[in-house]
Amino acid sequence: AAVKKYQFDVQVKNISRLCHAKPIVTVNGMFPGPTIYAREGDTVLINVTNHAQYNMSIHWHGLKQFRNGWADGPAYITQCPIQTGNSYTYAFNVTGQRGTLWWHAHILWLRATVYGAIVLMPKQGTPFPFPQPSQEVNLVLGEWWNTDVEELVNQGNKLGLPPNMSDAHTINGKPGPLFPCSEKHTFVTEVEQGKSYLLRIVNAALNDELFFALAGHNFTVVEIDAVYVKPFTTQAILIAPGQTTNVLVQADRVPGRYFMAARPFQDVPIPVDNKTATAIFQYKGIPNTVLPTMPQLPASNDSSFALRYNAKLKSLNSPQFPANVPLAVDRHLFYTIGLGINPCPTCLNGTRLTASLNNITFVTPKIGLLQAHYFNTKGVFKTDFPDRPATPFNYTGAPLTANLRTSLTPIPRLSKIAYNSTVELVLQDTNLLSVESHPFHLHGYNFFVVGTGVGNFDPAKDPAKYNLVDPPERNTVGVPTGGWTAIRFRADNPGVWFMHCHLELHTGWGLKVAFVVEDGKGPNESVLPPPKDLPPC
Ligand code: C2O
Repeated sequence: AAVKKYQFDVQVKNISRLCHAKPIVTVNGMFPGPTIYAREGDTVLINVTNHAQYNMSIHWHGLKQFRNGWADGPAYITQCPIQTGNSYTYAFNVTGQRGTLWWHAHILWLRATVYGAIVLMPKQGTPFPFPQPSQEVNLVLGEWWNTDVEELVNQGNKLGLPPNMSDAHTINGKPGPLFPCSEKHTFVTEVEQGKSYLLRIVNAALNDELFFALAGHNFTVVEIDAVYVKPFTTQAILIAPGQTTNVLVQADRVPGRYFMAARPFQDVPIPVDNKTATAIFQYKGIPNTVLPTMPQLPASNDSSFALRYNAKLKSLNSPQFPANVPLAVDRHLFYTIGLGINPCPTCLNGTRLTASLNNITFVTPKIGLLQAHYFNTKGVFKTDFPDRPATPFNYTGAPLTANLRTSLTPIPRLSKIAYNSTVELVLQDTNLLSVESHPFHLHGYNFFVVGTGVGNFDPAKDPAKYNLVDPPERNTVGVPTGGWTAIRFRADNPGVWFMHCHLELHTGWGLKVAFVVEDGKGPNESVLPPPKDLPPC
């Protein structure tokens, strides 16, 4: 095992896209930021120095950070942000994980431009459980706004309304030639006839689930969220913000230029966002004058494709990579996901949009929750987050109710989980305000997606249909529009762990909660001691 060291200088740089130049926050002046390469078993040290005017905090999305929440990154959850002029070294081991993950800013909406890929290679001498590709290509999907994102968000918050949607989708920071002034901002990957390629795809978009396809070629999906799956072929993939997907592609077609394209999946009758980002898969020797072919993407609102695609995802569950699904459950949690409206005297309509789990809107504390936990600082949080909604209702079928109004408490309410207990969490979408699909991400763990369905979860019938053999194991799951998803995990990682919708819009409105996982030995024994340079608040 090696020690991999990185220096991340957070700095502002002028970037131009879509005929607009603007200063953006970057790491090392790169957009997207640098890729982190490490091998299973390595230690990674990333020193982040903040030269920008914003407070900064970086999350290593999907890294389990065993007993080491100090390196997890969400601002005010596991650390206070790195202030302008200061540095902090994220130090962690890569244990039992290999595959594609990613990193991003975890404060305000700064992840709009502060993100990059993480490539974790298997241990030396351990091959992939699928045919070795000739080459690998990282494809990080994102969004671009022509105006300053933080200003846009502040305005939205003042009015109590969502900010404008992005002006483009991007592939490796580039929108591709379907957007104005973007001919030169097109990602091109050159391929050779007869060779095979592993595409490492990350959805770093802020607010859109995306379909992604390559004209003329099928994908073989081999891994999601850094966990191997049973390989299957498909024309297109669906990937939610936060998720990663590795696919194999054979360059075995008539040599030419083929578009790779990403477009939002919107589970609504009339999709509003039709922006398509493109990049080019170009066979060696083919001139740039050849017009690329466009792939057929599923229709923007093709929810049946989404259901079928997600149903194909199964853990590899081989002797070498078993799926250790918890069969018995110690703790049952049921969280409703709701969008709502709360009073806001200074806002445009006297109200502002909020979001909630079990009708509780998360309020961000002033100091890191993990510090408060570790140092036993009183009055920072409570651990009385309810295991289920106060009053059950017809979640997806009832008319709008008083539940629209969410409860805001002065300090965050967390859920306390016993160490090593097995947890089942059912996430239930509701029609409070509107049904919508929500990609939920849990920090500190992977979980198994044992079941999902449309309508209301039925505790009498649905568990009988769970897949407890080879369900997909991941860190982010899309809860379907007007439906539910059941996940299971073993709470074997002590600390304070965030869980939230990975649509930045919803996170900002409070669609989040944190778990306090304790082993009874007291936080000082179960959690590693905090690093000396942990940022102060
Ligand atoms: Cu990728 Cu808490 O996020």
